[in-house]
Amino acid sequence: MTPPSARDLVPADANLATLRRAAAGCTACELYKDATQTVFGSGTPDAEVMLVGEQPGDKEDLAGEPFVGPAGKLLDQALAEAGIDRGRTYITNAVKHFKFTRRGKVRLHKKPSAVEMAACRPWLEEELSVVRPEIVVCLGATAAQALLGPSFRVTKERARFVDWPYEPRVTATVHPSSILRAPDEGTRQAELSRFEDDLRVVAGALDGRGR
Ligand code: URA
Ligand code: SF4
Repeated sequence: MTPPSARDLVPADANLATLRRAAAGCTACELYKDATQTVFGSGTPDAEVMLVGEQPGDKEDLAGEPFVGPAGKLLDQALAEAGIDRGRTYITNAVKHFKFTRRGKVRLHKKPSAVEMAACRPWLEEELSVVRPEIVVCLGATAAQALLGPSFRVTKERARFVDWPYEPRVTATVHPSSILRAPDEGTRQAELSRFEDDLRVVAGALDGRGR
């Protein structure tokens, strides 16, 4: 059996509008079945920075937009703190449907499998080739894995640019949700300021190019 892939659904005239429409009807893997809707990326097609998360959460699944819940609020604040205008960014996820388990009334996030990540990857590849950002920031291990392979370690290599000769430049940092899960307020503050420092490295790399 061939592994599931969204590849055949990618429209020939790919732009953000046609991609978003095609992805809205994607049934390539199982995840569409229990989720409310596809959560495609959002932002300007001229974005210099593409931020890639893992998958939509509960709030994003309901709203149909990425990073609108608690992790998104934290991300917005950290971007502003680092001097990155949201208007210069495009924000998306490695996987476009919310995967969860039910615990009573709550829908708890569940990590997407390697098969689901691979199935969804064509959407991310198309977003990359349409937006053509200068810099891609992987938020957390799942995004880093999707773009950089399973041996990449966010904890060791955060805020460093991957050493390769082609565009875009790619870097990684932690997922904003991991900061929200910090065990106490002191740790949370420390992790938040490290996250902001990582984003400042991105801002500096952009500004270093004559902007
Ligand atoms: N976490 C993610 O990785 N993506 C979202 O869109 C929201 C939370
Ligand atoms: Fe398609 Fe991705 Fe949703 Fe799977 S998770 S159905 S590949 S959009």
